[in-house]
Amino acid sequence: MSRQLTPYEKNFLTRHNFDFSNTSIPTDIPIEYLVNVAEFRGLNFYIDQNTLIPRIETEQLVDLALENILTNFKNKEKIVIADLCTGSGSIGISLALELAKRNIDFHIYFSDISKDALDIAKKNYYNFLPKKIANANFIHSDLFNNFPKDLNFDLIISNPPYVPNERIASLQNSVKNYEPILALDGGKDGTEIINKIILQLPKFQKKINCLIEIDDSHNLDKIKSEGLNPSLIKDQFGVNRFLSLFLL
Ligand SMILES: C[S@@+](CC[C@H](N)C(=O)[O-])C[C@H]1O[C@@H](n2cnc3c(N)ncnc32)[C@H](O)[C@@H]1O
Repeated sequence: MSRQLTPYEKNFLTRHNFDFSNTSIPTDIPIEYLVNVAEFRGLNFYIDQNTLIPRIETEQLVDLALENILTNFKNKEKIVIADLCTGSGSIGISLALELAKRNIDFHIYFSDISKDALDIAKKNYYNFLPKKIANANFIHSDLFNNFPKDLNFDLIISNPPYVPNERIASLQNSVKNYEPILALDGGKDGTEIINKIILQLPKFQKKINCLIEIDDSHNLDKIKSEGLNPSLIKDQFGVNRFLSLFLL
């Protein structure tokens, strides 16, 4: 069946030099995968079907992280950050660009369980911050498993897979048939990976300071964050979307 593109889709594809001639476009494919580009905070990230298409809600995570750094680490020489479950690298790279713009020195660790996704994050980092490549490490890892034990992060940010397992089958075809299941499936309640991250924070942070994107169905009863001063932050659509953990 040939696909009727919306005006938005046509604009997007034209902007990214899609060749419309003789092309039959599958009904449900996200247009970003047709041109291997996703727009995030006004930047064009390389993506393919090994990576989630970064969502507009997630842009706010970068603002929260930047605000966190500007508030808590004004006088620190170098800020050490981890972007766990990085996918295309869009969160960590956008944050690194904001820090570089302000001449704030940083070192950022990107990690993902998918080697293909991590390679894409690296490619994007080289593209946006070629002069800052010495400020980044890329660790292929199941969460913190392959991280050197002596690391102490000032800030950990993550948009992990958080869709409740039982909801995967009802996701739109464009999501469940094209985006990597590894990027979506958060296990029972969608909190399995979130809770694994939280459990390991004390090993990698002397002072807990972490921002995690969550599902709007999550609440503090489902998330194992007692004692870490958890708070939920709403996104631009007015639903709980981010978990902040902070313990000096
Ligand atoms: C929701 S996507 C987020 C990607 C990117 N941070 C973004 O916001 O667009 C989650 C990412 O987590 C990765 N992932 C899933 N399980 C993981 C694990 N146990 N350890 C590390 N990364 C994992 C997936 O490969 C995927 O790239």
